[in-house]
Amino acid sequence: MFGRNPFAACFALALSVSFGYAAPTAGVAIEQRAVADHVVTKETIFYPPTSYSTPRTLYGRTAQLADGTVLATWENYSPEPPLVYFPIYKSSDKGQTWTSFSNVTDQVNGWGLRWEPFLYVLPQAIGNLPKGTILCAGNSVPANLSHTKIDLYASKDNGATWSFVSSIAEGGEAISTNGYTPVWEPFLMVYNNQLVAYYSDQRDPAHGQKLVHQVSSDAINWGVVIDDVAYPTYSQRPGMTTIAPLPNGQWIMTYEYGGGPNPKNAGYPVYYRISSSPLLFNSAPGQILNAGGTVPTSSPYVVWSPSGGANGTIAVSANSSPEIFVNTELGEPNSWVMYNTPQWGSYSRELRVMDDPDYLLIVSAGYLGTNNYVTDSVMKLPNL
Ligand SMILES: *[C@@H]1O[C@H](CO)[C@@H](O)[C@H](O)[C@H]1NC(C)=O
Ligand SMILES: *[C@@H]1O[C@H](CO)[C@@H](O)[C@H](O)[C@H]1NC(C)=O
Ligand SMILES: *[C@@H]1O[C@H](CO)[C@@H](O)[C@H](O)[C@H]1NC(C)=O
Repeated sequence: MFGRNPFAACFALALSVSFGYAAPTAGVAIEQRAVADHVVTKETIFYPPTSYSTPRTLYGRTAQLADGTVLATWENYSPEPPLVYFPIYKSSDKGQTWTSFSNVTDQVNGWGLRWEPFLYVLPQAIGNLPKGTILCAGNSVPANLSHTKIDLYASKDNGATWSFVSSIAEGGEAISTNGYTPVWEPFLMVYNNQLVAYYSDQRDPAHGQKLVHQVSSDAINWGVVIDDVAYPTYSQRPGMTTIAPLPNGQWIMTYEYGGGPNPKNAGYPVYYRISSSPLLFNSAPGQILNAGGTVPTSSPYVVWSPSGGANGTIAVSANSSPEIFVNTELGEPNSWVMYNTPQWGSYSRELRVMDDPDYLLIVSAGYLGTNNYVTDSVMKLPNL
């Protein structure tokens, strides 16, 4: 995250990956859906009242359930009390219309669930959480910003009710300046029968910020903190992990590289790493994302779709533009192409590959510093 200032209520970075495109059998499931994936253009998910504080909404995230239902959440700057929470909105028609469904509320800290929500549907059982359980991780932060705590909640009833599961990581004051010790921006993924929680970490005195993960076999007990991206120069701030699987057995991770080299001289260029294991990014080389001279910056989000040719399509969103950046050559550095989208740009916009992997959902909850609302678009992949 960049530039989140105390009491200015802005910043954070997070990420998410959806692995909903699934295997060849997915075609059967698609036919059973009442509503097929289709183009949606800037539909409003939630328009906050003026009582909300700036930026009103930020950092949209979604999940897609087995029956095709899409759930959305975001940072929600509602007046307190009551403590802030992550609203859950629901679409039964593939992102076209949305209704209020539930809230994920802080059940353990008395601080609220304030920033950086992330939704993930378990593709298999983990501990006593069955396949199909919806996970919601997010940053619980008190109104005075004195703590950061990445807590995990779960819903076993398709998002209607939520229960606290575990706390993944705890840090100090929610201030993004180097030298403070917060944790930020969870991203969840199952790998090798374990739940992996990726996040940004300012607690290591050797690094202003680094990217790390912890692994759990039951979603309750979490292993040691493992580095994913940690640069030797203290002031550099890699942030906002997102990860997607590639069809050649490799994994791609994108992140913003605060202080990183950028030929365009702009802050927080988007970098990526490719590794044979999503637990070993620390030993993979970092590579700038440069699409013919355009270097996107800040809060990237990466997904992979099997559509678009033999290698499928890698798509990346970033804070700097409404466009997306596409690579049909497995991340080959000279093969990034920028394409228009129908959707607004946003801080930490999320991408999601739909059941029909020709379609990409983009959710936006606005920029830092402006009064925002939450929208989504669904577009056909631009390279098809
Ligand atoms: C979510 O919480 C807010 C604030 O307490 C409340 O107004 C709203 O009705 C809740 N939404 C749902 C779906 O329960
Ligand atoms: C900040 O808020 C927390 C949680 O409500 C409280 O425990 C703490 O005492 C507060 N700190 C200050 C300096 O007010
Ligand atoms: C797939 O990616 C490889 C590696 O970059 C590339 O050589 C090949 O041309 C790509 N195939 C297609 C169909 O784009």
